[in-house]
Amino acid sequence: MGKIAIVYYSSTGHTYQMAKAIARGAESVGAEVRVRKTAEIAPQAAIDSRPGWREHLNATADVPEAETADLEWADGFLFGTPTRFGLPAAQLKQFLDQTGGLWFQGKLQDKPVGVFGGASNAHGGQESTLLALNNMFYHWGAIIVPTGYTSPLIRACGGNPYGTSYTASPDGKIPQAHLDAAHFQGQRVARYAQLLADRRLYLSGKGE
Ligand SMILES: Cc1cc2nc3c(=O)[nH]c(=O)nc-3n(C[C@H](O)[C@H](O)[C@H](O)COP(=O)(O)O)c2cc1C
Repeated sequence: MGKIAIVYYSSTGHTYQMAKAIARGAESVGAEVRVRKTAEIAPQAAIDSRPGWREHLNATADVPEAETADLEWADGFLFGTPTRFGLPAAQLKQFLDQTGGLWFQGKLQDKPVGVFGGASNAHGGQESTLLALNNMFYHWGAIIVPTGYTSPLIRACGGNPYGTSYTASPDGKIPQAHLDAAHFQGQRVARYAQLLADRRLYLSGKGE
């Protein structure tokens, strides 16, 4: 099965839980998975000003930081971010802005990509954030794999067809229905990754 890189940013742990559920889904269909966080670039004072931020940073100290080499390695990607005023978090964007070299060499094209994320409010920017993230993947020539309504699990957690998303809860827990949808998304992108990896020569126009 294909190789999947799951790259996320999470300040208080919701997006991290989604990343792990996606990883379990991808692994369940045989994919080799790397879960990678993006580097924290917020000032220390800001991190300490919000309950749970420092705690999550410490709790995930052992999660490796994403490197662009992870994207070169992967046959498919999933990117996750909390909403920041309806847009992706700068910490994820900072990482993605380092992909110019791979983009220039065509190393990101023809690979499937899915997006996931969330916000505090039910309509607080989940969809605009995921759509904004996708703008970049058109430039890469990646293959955007939306969740659509391809499984009843998507409707069961609010019906976001752009990618899986959550509404953050005060207890910090993601409801099982959302984790199930994330698991499905991991399977879906991993299946496309394998399919497209098998036909990379054909897609490049150099063979078959
Ligand atoms: C600077 C900032 C901007 C935010 N903007 C929004 C927003 O536009 N809409 C919303 O519902 N939540 C907003 N939030 C809340 C976060 O999206 C929410 O806490 C996050 O999804 C939790 O994910 P995490 O636990 O993975 O960090 C914002 C939070 C911060 C710190």
